[in-house]
Amino acid sequence: MKHFLDIHKTDPADLRHIIDTALTVKKSRAGRPKGALDDDLPLKDHMVALIFEKPSTRTRVSFDVGVRQMGGQTMVLSGSDMQLGHGETIADTARVLSRYVDLIMMRTFEEDTLLEMAEYATVPVINGLTDRTHPCQIMADILTFEELNGPIKGKKVVWAGDGNNVFASFAHAAKQFEFDLVFSGPPPLDPEASLDGLYSIERNPQTAVEGADLVVTDTWVSMHDPQSARERRHNQLRGYQVNKTLMDQAKPNALFMHCLPAHRDDEATSEVMDGPNSVIFDEAENRLHAQKAVMRWCLEA
Ligand code: CP
Ligand code: NVA
Repeated sequence: MKHFLDIHKTDPADLRHIIDTALTVKKSRAGRPKGALDDDLPLKDHMVALIFEKPSTRTRVSFDVGVRQMGGQTMVLSGSDMQLGHGETIADTARVLSRYVDLIMMRTFEEDTLLEMAEYATVPVINGLTDRTHPCQIMADILTFEELNGPIKGKKVVWAGDGNNVFASFAHAAKQFEFDLVFSGPPPLDPEASLDGLYSIERNPQTAVEGADLVVTDTWVSMHDPQSARERRHNQLRGYQVNKTLMDQAKPNALFMHCLPAHRDDEATSEVMDGPNSVIFDEAENRLHAQKAVMRWCLEA
């Protein structure tokens, strides 16, 4: 069973194959309407369940459109509307869904929910974000970097802000795609200990960003964080805002990324988000292309 659960759980050669497939398929349908079918239809006769226990715009729409472009059908399910949200076990849900659908994509809170779904499902399961990681996002980000600025291997990537789930998948990717990752944030918001050794730390963001090929940030308060933490986090992270002064320390052709949704003028200024180095909407588009390649890989289609 080929689940796509995390970047560090996927072989580097498979990750490279997924990125290459994404680029090839993206190019092959350039200029076509979004609703047009791909040349080949690897998901013809396939049914895909998209389960969301948290809100989503990009993940929901990009998976839905991607399945349809490949000839498949989707059903979008809210965790709270399912019996899953009312006491049915994840294991039973996984076994039941596997009788109806060919592929499951799940966005959830606890990583254990996703892992249990994968353990008991007899169809591939894809991680659409948990409290701990967001691998599909980082596959789209690698695709975006390489499309615009060439191989990411050996490049310097700097993360400014909260050491969260999106950072974790960047850390996994740093090892698998062989780039240098620097974390710049305050100690209370350091990444989890399991990621030690995958990145270096530079507390001063101005120093961290010197010579960077890519500068990345994310919201200061994630969906799994208590809203009561908002004010404290703003105080902790204010000095790590990505603004023009900070971007000016990076290489002139450095890219700026943010997975979105953003709180404009908190973690990054609108000047940077809408500026010449920003590729935030390319990233969003590439969710579609990267995930289509992930689904093909899972289904060997
Ligand atoms: N970046 C991302 O996963 O966005 P959504 O929460 O809108 O899916
Ligand atoms: N870190 C954010 C990413 C959203 C796509 C969150 O988990 O809310």
